[in-house]
Amino acid sequence: MSEKTFKRILVTSALPYANGPIHIGHLAGAYIPADLYCRYQRLKGRDLVYVCGSDEFGVAIVMKALKEGVTPQEIVDKYHPIIRDSFEAIGMSFDHYGRTTTPTHEDTSQDFFRRLASKDVFNLKTDEQLYDAEAGVFLADRFVRGTCPVCGYEDAYGDQCENCGTSLSPAELINPRSALTDATPELRETTHWYIPLGDWQPKLEAYIGSHPEWKPNVLGQIGAWFKDGLRDRAITRDVPWGVPVPRDVAEAAGVEAEGKVIYVWFDAPIGYVSATREWAAAQGDPERWRLYWQDDESMLIHFIGKDNIVFHTLMFPAMLMAYGDYVVPENVPANEFLNIEGKKLSTSRGWAVWLHEHLEDFPPDLLRYALAATLPETKDADFSWKDFQTRANSELADILGNFVHRALTFAAREFDGQVPPLVNPGDFDRETLAKLAEFPARIGQSYERFRIREAVFETMNLARLGNKYFNDSEPWKTRKTDREACANTIHVSLQLCAALSVLMEPVLPFSAAKLRAMLGLDGIRASAPGGDPGATTGWDEAGQPLLQENHALGNPEILFRKVEDDAIDAQIAKLSAADAAEEAEPETPYEPKKDFIEYDDFARLDLRMGTVTAAERVPKSKKLLRLEVDLGFEQRQILAGAAQHFDPADLVGRRVIAVANLKPRKMMGLESQGMLLMSEDRDGRLTLLSAEGENGAVVR
Ligand code: MF3
Ligand code: ZN
Repeated sequence: MSEKTFKRILVTSALPYANGPIHIGHLAGAYIPADLYCRYQRLKGRDLVYVCGSDEFGVAIVMKALKEGVTPQEIVDKYHPIIRDSFEAIGMSFDHYGRTTTPTHEDTSQDFFRRLASKDVFNLKTDEQLYDAEAGVFLADRFVRGTCPVCGYEDAYGDQCENCGTSLSPAELINPRSALTDATPELRETTHWYIPLGDWQPKLEAYIGSHPEWKPNVLGQIGAWFKDGLRDRAITRDVPWGVPVPRDVAEAAGVEAEGKVIYVWFDAPIGYVSATREWAAAQGDPERWRLYWQDDESMLIHFIGKDNIVFHTLMFPAMLMAYGDYVVPENVPANEFLNIEGKKLSTSRGWAVWLHEHLEDFPPDLLRYALAATLPETKDADFSWKDFQTRANSELADILGNFVHRALTFAAREFDGQVPPLVNPGDFDRETLAKLAEFPARIGQSYERFRIREAVFETMNLARLGNKYFNDSEPWKTRKTDREACANTIHVSLQLCAALSVLMEPVLPFSAAKLRAMLGLDGIRASAPGGDPGATTGWDEAGQPLLQENHALGNPEILFRKVEDDAIDAQIAKLSAADAAEEAEPETPYEPKKDFIEYDDFARLDLRMGTVTAAERVPKSKKLLRLEVDLGFEQRQILAGAAQHFDPADLVGRRVIAVANLKPRKMMGLESQGMLLMSEDRDGRLTLLSAEGENGAVVR
């Protein structure tokens, strides 16, 4: 267990692929928890840098470009600003938000690659990989689809089956086909660099073993990887989009560099380093990034979703160890997935809530709070619109907003908008102030342990405490009967409001700023970059009274407006519309099964091997093909209703299975003397069945 205290903290959130906008699944995984953590640490006065950026390489980007008929560059140039701006709008407090298509990133990635190559960390392997001759490209990762060898799902990607989650390599797919042209790929030789993760397993096991405090869901996944045994991973690709493999390294290895790029999962985590370098340069201190990456007293924390665990806990640490001089992650608090209304989030089905759209309808703090309160920290969690409304109305508005409003309007009306002095406080006042004093450490401990949901719950408990204190003290009664007691109640309530304005800032930064304006409270340390470096009042101080006696307050305003039923109904309707569109196009059902037959029924069929020797369209018929088939013992003329499916020229020479004892019948004036076996899929596509064996051989 590392009880080590660190001088500074470097925090990262997974670099989102720049192939689409951000949705709430992203936010709940790697962004909201990280932002709350960073804001908390900054309020503590810790030296912290928080970086992120757009992940702009990789096959995911190329696929999107192909789909939209534009270049990969156009895709990332479109989505990078959308992502960046929506992050800003929800208050993500990055010190730097970069992108991986910058010169700094190319330089940093190539330096990593070069150094690891020069230290002989990689293996070079030449083997046969799937190649699409039509498109002239190797079919890496998502460029190839086929049947999953594990679950039989027919649309698995070359790198992963989306149905069962197994991670695959293209060669493992059954019936692979090109995702670019649908062509059946051929095998071609190519040479790639591999990182032999197996060799690193002992070191990685020791490293992970020194962190029993990591989250169980993370340790569980890592344990499974270790048990399987880590394998070599190719870290280069033959794809036309990525950081080029450094020419000098390729030449030294005797490999043609042209067309080879670094695998996106090698360069993306290096994007964290590039972003830190860009941040340092912007600070006017270009070498400053080293302090965060190369000094033992720096603590590196990666916030990610569960699908990225292996890369951040095994592959990237191995790369950092291999490079030398770098710190390795101190913790990787990965989250599970967020479902929506009980169903798995799916962008292709439209079952998603998009950040930029959400922010058109609601203020950012509502979503921050609703998500932070339901984070999938230990298991998958569910976002529902009703729950969103309840969080906004019954918690933010009715508890926090209500308390603040009552205290401030009371002070405005009864005490001239000033903080009344505390004189001869009663037991209840003193107990309440004593309770307040415990909150910063208690909430802080939850943040330190990456229990973000718990931290938010504890924060709201402070508002609950305030509400109850105000109610039970009944200042609306004492204002007539006991002026001093009334003043004390308002004094303590205002101190609670001031504390709240600091302690709620990680989760509700926009509302915290509003609240501080109402309180006329300034000089508080910033939770985001760019604050007043001279401010010394922060998290720890928030347990003590922050407001001076007779301090002049600002104007009370409503902190949280209620979310109306109409607004929620509209959101639910929007989701169901996406779902209904999906249901309107139900998947074609399989043909119903047929009744059992006896073996003898089957044996009555005379199935024979044959070869198509001639094929032509039947004149004036849209459907019919006239085939000549060699059955060994005789030639047959067979008419097949498949003219819309095959080019006659392609059929000549095909080995086929014929039903040889089908009673001859006439079509379009021609006699058909049999039938060929074909499969017909649910969309009506025909495939000619083929088999081996001499012409005339019996099929049974
Ligand atoms: N783009 C990846 C994803 O969305 C995450 C990359 S994280 C980093 O799954 F390590 F590569 F930066
Ligand atoms: Zn599968």
